[in-house]
Amino acid sequence: MTAAAANARHRPRRFKVRDDAVDAAALEAYARDGFLILEDFVSSADCDALQMRAAELVDGFDPAETRTIFSTIDQKHAQDRYFLDSGDAIHFFFEDGAFDAEGRLTTDKSLALNKIGHALHDLDPVFDRISRGPRFAMLAKAIGLQEPLLLQSMYIFKQPYIGGEVDWHQDSTFLYTTPLSTVGFWLALDDATTENGCLFAPAGGHRGLLRKRFIREGMTTQVEVLDEKPWPNQVPVPLEVPRGSLIVLHGLLPHASGANHSSKPRHAYTLHLIDGVADYAADNWLQRPRLPLRGFS
Ligand code: FE2
Repeated sequence: MTAAAANARHRPRRFKVRDDAVDAAALEAYARDGFLILEDFVSSADCDALQMRAAELVDGFDPAETRTIFSTIDQKHAQDRYFLDSGDAIHFFFEDGAFDAEGRLTTDKSLALNKIGHALHDLDPVFDRISRGPRFAMLAKAIGLQEPLLLQSMYIFKQPYIGGEVDWHQDSTFLYTTPLSTVGFWLALDDATTENGCLFAPAGGHRGLLRKRFIREGMTTQVEVLDEKPWPNQVPVPLEVPRGSLIVLHGLLPHASGANHSSKPRHAYTLHLIDGVADYAADNWLQRPRLPLRGFS
């Protein structure tokens, strides 16, 4: 096999989406691979709007308000609480090592954040508008969600030089329903490449079992191992995509992303959906006592 052919084999196919439908070939690829790449899914103007709005939210966030969370005094407990309370809020999460022993930021906040989560799509008008756009609604139905509900949103920074890697996981580990129904929409707000920490996934890796559950116990969390089997033996492929592309991720698909050692940012916006006809586990970490789940209307 030539190098070009080998590269082509490891380069997943890209699809375009229309406003009213997803092509049968794209749906077949999703069923086969557990992921689907849709280029030009979100306009450049809407990518700009999300990035500008995130920058405004960061501007308005005073890390001093949450200093206790990041100080050494009872740090673990406070961090757990801040995380667990974020299911129906907009909270800010920093990269490891962003604070010194006294809880002071060691760099500018805009360069130290790991992500914002987890109810941007319900609480912020810009994120709400774009997350509930007609294409997202059409796609959710097309991939088989009968009553799609928008459960979780994250703005992920993957900062230049310091953006950390995300280890192998299945999204249903964190957002568990019976039957399983979780789907991730991963929107590239910058070009995502192997240099700046794009996603990796093994094609077809979703045809396995859920390995773990991440569960809440009071105000702490723990991991329950459901299946000790190693990850499937497929070669993960890099899901390199241009800005504005959407990657659909099946809840059972193992995926990961590398660290960003480059000088380029790799912002992404993710939205996780579940099906309203499935039961949402009461011991999932993410609970929304103050904010009922909504669909696309
Ligand atoms: Fe994930």
